[in-house]
Amino acid sequence: MGEQMSGTPSVAVLGLGTMGAAMARRISGAGLATTVWNRSAGRAGSFAEGPARVAADVAGAVAGADVVITMLFDAAAVEAVIAEALPAMARHAIWLQCSTVGMEATGRFAAAAAAAGIAFVDAPVLGTKAPAEAGTLTALLAGSDEDLAAVEPVIAAIATKKVRAGDAAPAASALKLAMNAWIATITAGIAQSLTIAARLGLEPALVLEALHGAAADSPYAQLKGGAMLQGGFEAQFEVVGLLKDVRLAREATPGMPQHLLAALDELYGAAADGGAAHADIAAVWQAFQD
Ligand SMILES: NC(=O)c1ccc[n+]([C@@H]2O[C@H](COP(=O)([O-])OP(=O)(O)OC[C@H]3O[C@@H](n4cnc5c(N)ncnc54)[C@H](OP(=O)(O)O)[C@@H]3O)[C@@H](O)[C@H]2O)c1
Repeated sequence: MGEQMSGTPSVAVLGLGTMGAAMARRISGAGLATTVWNRSAGRAGSFAEGPARVAADVAGAVAGADVVITMLFDAAAVEAVIAEALPAMARHAIWLQCSTVGMEATGRFAAAAAAAGIAFVDAPVLGTKAPAEAGTLTALLAGSDEDLAAVEPVIAAIATKKVRAGDAAPAASALKLAMNAWIATITAGIAQSLTIAARLGLEPALVLEALHGAAADSPYAQLKGGAMLQGGFEAQFEVVGLLKDVRLAREATPGMPQHLLAALDELYGAAADGGAAHADIAAVWQAFQD
């Protein structure tokens, strides 16, 4: 694959949500010819001034693109969009699938790409809105040497760290599930510790102060814990997104004891049902309140 791709690849970005929009800006800002498309036209509005070209439909976005990125909410969204994209893609193009869709769907998408003669790179990312805007995501990658080399200028525009999980899909999606289980755990964990402190009559900020610089500290716990204390729940990563990923991890590990995943499913589910579905994952804090 990639034999017709010379120099800097042209890129189509399908999906301009929190992550896709930021990634498209990084890619076009890096000088790669970029075309964007989003299901609801409103989200493409901020691209009207360029440098990315806004396409009216999926087929128009992917026509001629060397690399086609999908950054959509879930497997159903990718399924719907790619049904239009695959037939319209150039045969030398590479599909860089960045959405978090789990292992079963990733396997299906890789097979659909192979059947259409299109190369597939499994490429979920770690990091939320701010790292996406700064181009400092971590790219989890599974694909052939050749395809990974071909997408490298795109990856370099969005990520400062790469972890190669394997030579083929769905290895990177497997790693992504393990990582988001950790994100769900640490975010619920700091919410629990802040709540315990408050229940025991302490100023909850003492938890973050005691944690700071300790072996058990993490920038993420400080970030999300700080947001919880300030009630700053503007979405960097929506509760419904992480809930989707906890459930994907459960589906992918049926034989593993799932006590912790089940508790996380319940906690993020309660936050979503309690009105925080589209708030930031820090709003899991609400599930610990009366
Ligand atoms: N936010 C994060 O921190 C983060 C980090 C790493 C990975 N991820 C993963 O990256 C992906 C995108 O996340 P995000 O935060 O950018 O999500 P988001 O802000 O909710 O955006 C979702 C995107 O999917 C589109 N979409 C949803 N259903 C669709 C359908 N049936 N057909 C076509 N388009 C559809 C939406 O289009 P409309 O505008 O028309 O609704 C929008 O462009 C998800 O898989 C998420 O789990 C997120």
